[in-house]
Parts: sequence; structure tokens; C-alpha cells
Amino acid sequence: MKRLIGNKNAHECIQRNGKYWTFKTNEKPEVEVNIEGQTKLIKPEEVSAQILMKLKQSVENVVRKPIKSIVLTVPAYFDEDQKKATIKAAEIAGLHVSELISEPSAAAYAYGFDQHKFSDTNLLVFDLGGGTLDVVIVKIKDGIFNVVAIGGDTLLGGRDFDNALMDYFVDIIEKKYKKKISENVKVMQKLLKECIDLKHMLTATEDAK
Ligand SMILES: Nc1ncnc2c1ncn2[C@@H]1O[C@H](COP(=O)(O)OP(=O)(O)OP(=O)(O)O)[C@@H](O)[C@H]1O
Ligand SMILES: [Mg+2]
Repeated sequence: MKRLIGNKNAHECIQRNGKYWTFKTNEKPEVEVNIEGQTKLIKPEEVSAQILMKLKQSVENVVRKPIKSIVLTVPAYFDEDQKKATIKAAEIAGLHVSELISEPSAAAYAYGFDQHKFSDTNLLVFDLGGGTLDVVIVKIKDGIFNVVAIGGDTLLGGRDFDNALMDYFVDIIEKKYKKKISENVKVMQKLLKECIDLKHMLTATEDAK
């Protein structure tokens, strides 16, 4: 969803990645979902809103207080349209966005770089996520972060490693069983899960089954 939300070039993204997705999209872009047996087309911000609602509920269950306002993080390279669409998702979820900060700044906070001892520091944040690679330089002064340089690849993330493994195994399975599986959403979803598990195992070990 992050690759689609507020993205002016969504059609390019769909062309390149669509075949790996286990949901259907159109050019607008809208996502096809099944709600209580009915097929509906919803916008990426509405999908994100559902995720935010789920997160809000999980947090409320722990802190036992209603969550009304949030600090929202977005990739450093997000343009105004992408930011607006992300804020819209929060609004749909009934959340007020008190501040929007960039993901590398959030990472710097998480690692305690807002502490005084890191003042006057240039920090390189390398963030390879599920969907995107963000490499940024953050200037830290008196606990304030300023993103001064951005690089990376908005269409490279762990999901692409999964896709490469999927291509590899789909080919082997289709040849071995003489059956087409790439159109079968359930089978592809199962294979995707296996590929992700395999990828995680291969981070720690030389080989895995
Ligand atoms: N042990 C591991 N070995 C290899 N990859 C891993 C491991 N653990 C997690 N990953 C991969 O990291 C990715 C998730 O990273 P992260 O949680 O940083 O993403 P994200 O912040 O949700 O995504 P993005 O920033 O792109 O929106 C997934 O592709 C996941 O499979
Ligand atoms: Mg991330």
C-alpha cells in the first residue's frame, strides 16, 4: 500500500510489481477487497486506515486509554501528495495527526540519538524495509533532526527478495508437477510465506530447506 498511496505514478508501480500481489488493483489505483462476501473497490488510503485502526486498537488494549492523536512517520522521499494521502488514512481511522516526521528521524529517535551527547552529529541511516530502501544523512543539533541528504530506491525492499525466491520456486514447481500455479492466489500466498521464512532462515544459516 505504501508504494501506491498518493503515488502519481501508481500505474508504473503496478506494472512492475502487480504480478506478485495477491490482491487485484486497477489504474486509479483502487484495491479489490472482499467485505462480508461483497467485492468492493477501495483506495489505498482506506486500506491503510484499516491497518491504523487495528494498531490503534492494539495500543488501546495495552495502555487502556483512548488514542486520539498520533505522530505519523512517512519515508523521507514522500512528496506532498503521498504525505496528504497518508494523513487522509489517519483521518479515516479517526486519528488526529499532531506531527508528521520522516522515517529515518523516527529511527534516530528509536536509537536514542536525540540525547544531548549526539549533538552536532551527522548520522547515516540505512533503512532496508519491506518495500523501500532509504539511505539518509540526518544532522543532529540539540536533539533536533534535520534530514540533509536522501538516497535509496523506492522500489527495493525485502519484498523483492521474496519475489526473486518466488520466481525461482514457481519455475521449479511448475516444471516438476506440469501444473500452472502462478494464477492460484491461495497457493501463491502459501509459497510466499514459505519463501519469507526461508529468507529469514538464510540470514542466520548457510543453508535451509
Ligand atoms: N531475519 C531476517 N532476515 C532477512 N530479512 C528479514 C529478517 N527479518 C525481517 N526481514 C525482512 O525485513 C522486511 C521488513 O523490514 P521492516 O520492518 O524494516 O519494514 P517496514 O518498515 O515495514 O517496511 P518499509 O519501511 O519498506 O515500509 C521484510 O521484508 C522482512 O521479510
Ligand atoms: Mg520502514
